[in-house]
Amino acid sequence: MASVRKGQKMVLVMVGLPARGKSFTARRLARYLSWLGYPTRVFNLGEQRRTELGGRQTHEFFDPSNEEGRRIRQALAQQVLEELVLWLRANGRVAIYDATNHTRARRQAIRERCETEGFAVQFIEVENDDPRVIDANVRETKLSSPDYADMDPEAAVRDFRLRIAHYAAGYEKVADAEGSYLRIVDRGRQVVMNQIDGYLPSRIVFFLSNLQITTRSIFLTRHGESEYNVEGLIGGDSGLSPQGRRYAQELSHHMRERLGETPFEVWTSTLRRTRDTAAPLGRPVAEWRSLDEIEAGICDGFSYAQIRDKWPHEFDARQRDKLGYRYPRGESYQDVIQRLDRVIIELERYRTPVLVIGHQAVCRALYTYFMDLPLTECPHVPIPLHTVIELTPRAYGCEETRTALEPRPTNAEAPSH
Ligand code: F6P
Repeated sequence: MASVRKGQKMVLVMVGLPARGKSFTARRLARYLSWLGYPTRVFNLGEQRRTELGGRQTHEFFDPSNEEGRRIRQALAQQVLEELVLWLRANGRVAIYDATNHTRARRQAIRERCETEGFAVQFIEVENDDPRVIDANVRETKLSSPDYADMDPEAAVRDFRLRIAHYAAGYEKVADAEGSYLRIVDRGRQVVMNQIDGYLPSRIVFFLSNLQITTRSIFLTRHGESEYNVEGLIGGDSGLSPQGRRYAQELSHHMRERLGETPFEVWTSTLRRTRDTAAPLGRPVAEWRSLDEIEAGICDGFSYAQIRDKWPHEFDARQRDKLGYRYPRGESYQDVIQRLDRVIIELERYRTPVLVIGHQAVCRALYTYFMDLPLTECPHVPIPLHTVIELTPRAYGCEETRTALEPRPTNAEAPSH
């Protein structure tokens, strides 16, 4: 069995007919892998075509009997593949080739090219034959494409169906003899694996088999102001200040206003300040160790000024590289992200709204994932106390609404170092 060596660069090759959700899957996967610390980039053939040719190719362009169209499409596919190779050679870890790649010959050519570079290749086939899903996909994502600018929507849908038919005529599903692949059928109703071996490929399978395409909100908030917040100390397990307790009440009202009778999950850390913030909600609470605040090790229970005086080298090292810096006997932001992986998988899997009552560093890490921010920004994302951040993931991107609730915290926030 071909296995992926530790550190080996990977090419994930999307396979499937148009409008099956390949681009959605590719982007979500890229966001997840980048967040885990594997530099990942999607190379999308459709975008390249629109850039090079200005879009507006109607179905005839994709007809396999159109010699000219075929020649141009092949040249573009080759060009994108070469860009992918250059990027992966230079600095990437995982490249996702997002195109139909619907014939065996095409996939074989991609594999050969990538393997001469020493990259591991894995196919990800997205299959879905439910006409309602395909139709919704065409209407939601394709009609707004520059291909159909100024075209009557019904004419555009008819044209896109014909485009699909051109591909369907020559479509060959990935076969076992083609090596490592993952096939996702009907949005995860069935997941088929062949020759998946190694840590990263297994993480990819795990993520994709839990990925749901649902639009529901995730509410992120820090606990109400704690006694330690008032004193400007980090870490610890203190209770809420009077202001913090009032925030807990406000939060409960806010959730009732936002969701009414809609059921939602409440997740907290194991620390008192988050559990006490959840109490007025009067709902069952799931406590997650993974949601505990960044472990400050020897610095726990001190103020930033005290840390700077007692351990100036540590303080400076954290200023220089806040993402990678690990407190002695504690954690770094990168460590926090690794332990939040489980939380992300669960959030991707749930179909109901979830209220996460966490802490500054933990909320930063979750926010970075949903908003697809570069990791370097993670330790600096503003997550003020007494603010609810409502995140609504969409097919491409995530909507955000911030609501600052009274009362404002007593002690203006400790500065973020
Ligand atoms: O100050 C509150 C707090 O949650 C501390 O417990 C934690 O160490 C800190 O925020 C994390 O923020 P930063 O990474 O900016 O120090």
